[in-house]
Amino acid sequence: MTLLYRCPLCSGPLEQTKQSLCCKNRHQFDFAKEGYINLLPVQNKKSKQPGDNLQMVQARRAFFSTDHYVFLREKLVEIVAKRAPNTVIDLGCGEGFYTHAIADSIAAQVYGVDISKAAVKYAAKRYKHVNFSVASIKQTPFSNSCADVLLSVFAPIFAEELYRLCNDNGTLVIVSPGPKHLFELKQQIYDDVQLHETVNTPQGFVLQEHTLLEVRQHIDTDVLEDLIQMTPFAWKFKDNHYEELRKAKAHAVTLSFYISEFKKDNSEQP
Ligand SMILES: C[S@@+](CC[C@H](N)C(=O)[O-])C[C@H]1O[C@@H](n2cnc3c(N)ncnc32)[C@H](O)[C@@H]1O
Ligand SMILES: [Zn+2]
Repeated sequence: MTLLYRCPLCSGPLEQTKQSLCCKNRHQFDFAKEGYINLLPVQNKKSKQPGDNLQMVQARRAFFSTDHYVFLREKLVEIVAKRAPNTVIDLGCGEGFYTHAIADSIAAQVYGVDISKAAVKYAAKRYKHVNFSVASIKQTPFSNSCADVLLSVFAPIFAEELYRLCNDNGTLVIVSPGPKHLFELKQQIYDDVQLHETVNTPQGFVLQEHTLLEVRQHIDTDVLEDLIQMTPFAWKFKDNHYEELRKAKAHAVTLSFYISEFKKDNSEQP
């Protein structure tokens, strides 16, 4: 199986040996013992530990183990499988909760890429049938037009790079928060909760389909604490908010997701 990576330093093709990938210019990248490859050149690192830190990754992992997001994962698998792709890239894959389920369900080469080494390490240790790499999704180490499906779940969007990776008939699937996602938790910290809007269409793509998945689930309070830790408003949640939350053993919380499917607009380059 040929891997679709290209050299993150010179963009040249990478030759694979058992332990490493190497380009003609002798830029060499070794596979870690967990099976992932680090394709993030030191000079592209903006901080010592870019991306989600260990604490956030562990909170997400603990939350995912409760299966509250399985309904979203099942829907994503269905959407991706419908396209019968040969190649799927999950950009900002975290610890691979969605990535591995896709790889389990379809006969495709599946890649998961994230800038957080902590996340990718966990992912690669657990899910052996996915090609995981530590890399930036702003400048990914993949060849042009290599992906049939690009998946982005709650991850930053870099339109130009998505356009470069997507093949002409490819699909981009973006999951973003639905209008009332975690509404009840936000009510605890904001006087006026803003509802989420649909994601903007990335330049170079056209919207094909739009799905809103929304459920209300009873979630145990300790599990909710993990969920809060993996959200951008975690830092807004103070001790008094946690104390308030702990007054009940569980809470009814809205989980809401937009799933937006885009096609490449071949007439428009960003
Ligand atoms: C909110 S998390 C979502 C993770 C995963 N998609 C999920 O839903 O479980 C966003 C992820 O994007 C990653 N990320 C942020 N900026 C990135 C970048 N420039 N390149 C690659 N990954 C990035 C973070 O490390 C984090 O794992
Ligand atoms: Zn190179």
